Amino acid sequence: MSLPSSSREGATAFAPASAANVAIGFDILGFSVDVLGDKVTVKRTAAPGVVISGSSGVVKDIPRDPEKNTAGRALLAMQEALKPAFGFDAFIEKGIPLGSGLGGSAASAVAAVVAANALLEKPLSKIELLKFAMQGEAVSSGSLHVDNISPSLFGGLVLTVGIDNPRVKQIPVPNGIRAVLVHPHLFLSTKQARGILKGEVSMSDFIWQTANLAGFISGCYSNDLDVIRASFDDVVIEKQRSQLIPGFDAVRRGALDRGALGCTISGAGPTMFAWSLDADAPKVRDAMVAAFTAAGMRTDAWIVPISSTGAHVVA
Ligand code: HSE
Repeated sequence: MSLPSSSREGATAFAPASAANVAIGFDILGFSVDVLGDKVTVKRTAAPGVVISGSSGVVKDIPRDPEKNTAGRALLAMQEALKPAFGFDAFIEKGIPLGSGLGGSAASAVAAVVAANALLEKPLSKIELLKFAMQGEAVSSGSLHVDNISPSLFGGLVLTVGIDNPRVKQIPVPNGIRAVLVHPHLFLSTKQARGILKGEVSMSDFIWQTANLAGFISGCYSNDLDVIRASFDDVVIEKQRSQLIPGFDAVRRGALDRGALGCTISGAGPTMFAWSLDADAPKVRDAMVAAFTAAGMRTDAWIVPISSTGAHVVA
């Protein structure tokens, strides 16, 4: 039997990876990817404050200064807002490579606040935890955006409207759709990938992007694969970032030729993902891997459902 929250000395939470933007929802839409994730163990300390006691896993040299650490910054935001009588000691197990476009910094921040929440006498709701995790994400990307944080925290395909007072909507995904993700072994900094973006959008691109976002969301709600396929097209961001990803055009073409509904960059990249029907997913994956290999990249690949319970306490 688990102890009541207020009696716990420590808790460990898992937060899944995520693919942000989903082509047409730059900074507002993302889906969780349960096959990868970060775990954070938070223990109570006598004095208020935050300590990063260590880390393990696929990322080395994680900053120990909590102000410079995504989990640490999120926990500091919690401490500053809630002022508990105790502090947090966090140990981070990285399952998501940094600079992969799979929401690694977001997952550490999310797992940290979910674990710390289990130590509170009156645990907060996920929507209340969102703003703390968001502060952590900003440490690595240099901006406040929620399209990795929200799906990692809530699970599934998630739309977030607003920053100061965010509204979160979990969008239904038609049955039988799978996400195919292929991660080329290349580090791409989110700050760099955001830094190259132009500050302005043409009227024509604005109209297409708006139509595609509306079409995509309505297609998801109405099980309309044709409108999802027609709308799965980023006319603003992708063309600016594709040059950062070796083999981008061939990977996308390979996926679409094998029946994918769409194929684009996961978050800031370099991971790319496609959505396809379950039966098509293996050949879509093989085509994407082959195209990256032809561009000289080693890869990892996954086929996953787009459904999840999001971050949760595991111990
Ligand atoms: N929406 C963000 C971007 C996600 O594409 O820059 C990466 O953190």
